Amino acid sequence: LVLLASHSEAERLVAAERRALLLVAVGASVFLIVAFWILLGRILIRRVSALQLAMRAVEGGHLDVKAPGPPEGGDELAYLSRGFNRMLAQIRGFNADLTGRIEEATAELTKKNRDLEELNELLVAARRDLTSKERLAALGQLAGTIAHELGNPLNALNGHLQLLARRPELAEPARSQVAVLQGEVGRMTQIIRRFLDQTRGFTPTAETVELAPLVEEALDLTLGTEARQRIQVAREVDGVAVRTDPGLVRHLLTNLVANAIDAMPNGGRLEVQARSEGKEVVLRVSDTGTGMQPDVKRHIFEAFFTTKPDGKGTGLGLAICKEIARALRGRIDVESEPGKGSAFTVRFPEADAHAA
Ligand SMILES: Nc1ncnc2c1ncn2[C@@H]1O[C@H](COP(=O)(O)OP(=O)(O)OP(=O)(O)O)[C@@H](O)[C@H]1O
Ligand SMILES: [Mg+2]
Repeated sequence: LVLLASHSEAERLVAAERRALLLVAVGASVFLIVAFWILLGRILIRRVSALQLAMRAVEGGHLDVKAPGPPEGGDELAYLSRGFNRMLAQIRGFNADLTGRIEEATAELTKKNRDLEELNELLVAARRDLTSKERLAALGQLAGTIAHELGNPLNALNGHLQLLARRPELAEPARSQVAVLQGEVGRMTQIIRRFLDQTRGFTPTAETVELAPLVEEALDLTLGTEARQRIQVAREVDGVAVRTDPGLVRHLLTNLVANAIDAMPNGGRLEVQARSEGKEVVLRVSDTGTGMQPDVKRHIFEAFFTTKPDGKGTGLGLAICKEIARALRGRIDVESEPGKGSAFTVRFPEADAHAA
C-alpha cells in the first residue's frame, strides 16, 4: 500500500515538473519570437522607407537619387533596390537623349526661324527697292515731261535772245543784260539736263582725281557761315589720287554732308573721311546729330521719303546717293543711334578695278 501511494505521488511530481518545463519553454520561445520580430521589423522598415524616399524623389522629378543597398548580394530588398537603380539609370539615359533631341530640334527651329526672318527682310528690302526704283522711274518720266514742256519755251527764249544780241543798234547796258539772260537760260537748260541724267541713271566717267580737293569742294558747297559757327568740322582724308567719277563723288559727299548739317540744328561734330583701301574708295560722313529711329532708318533710301518740313527737303538726296553708289558698283551703308548721331559709309571700287 505504501509503495503504491509513493509511486503515484512520484508520478504527480514528475507531471508537475513537466508542465513547468513546458511552460518555461513556451514562454521563452514566445519571448524570443517577439524580440526577433521587433528587431527585424525595425531594420526592414528603415530600409523600406529609404527605398520609399528614393521613389518619392523620383516622383518629384529628381532623377539623380539612388536607392541604398549593396552593389551585389544581399536579400530581396537589396535586389529590389538594385533593380530600381538600374531602372533609374535607364530613365536618366532616355531623359538625356530626349533633352538632346529637343535641344537639337529647338536649335534647328531657331535657325529656320532666323533664315525665314532674313528672307523676309530681303523680301521687304527688295520690295522697298522696287518702289524706290519705281518712284525714281516715275520721277524720270516727270522730269522728262517737265524738260519737254520747259524745253520749248527755253529754246524760243534762247532763239529770241540770240536775235536780240545780233542787233547792232543794241546799246549798253541792254547788251550786257541780254548776255546775262543768255547765260541764265543756258544754266536752266543745263540744270534740266543734269536732273534728267540723275533720274535716268548714271554712267560714271573715269578720271584720276585727288580726294582732298573733292572733300573741300563738298564742304564749301554745303557749309554756310551759320553752319560753320555751330558745327565743328573734322576731316580725315588720304592725300592720294584715285580713278573715279569726280562729279558723282562730289554729289555723294554734298548730299551726305547736307543731311549731317540738317541733323545738327543745335551744333555738333561733323566728320568727313575719304580714303583709298586697296582698290576701293571709302567715303564716310558722320555726325553727332539727332540720329534716326528704326522706322525712319528703314525708309531713308526711298525716293521722296523725308522727315523735313515742306520746302526744306524733297527726300531725293539719299535715293540718288544709292543710285550713284550702285552706278559706281559700290554700296552705301548707314549706322545710326537716336539722340547720338549717324554715319553713312559709301564704298566702291576704283574705275580701273571694275572696268576689268
Ligand atoms: N545724317 C542724318 N541724320 C539724321 N537723319 C538723316 C540723316 N540723313 C538722312 N536722314 C533722314 O533721311 C531722310 C531722307 O534723306 P534724304 O537726303 O533722302 O532727303 P532729305 O534730306 O529729306 O531731302 P533732300 O532731297 O533735300 O536731300 C531725311 O529726311 C532724314 O529724316
Ligand atoms: Mg538730303
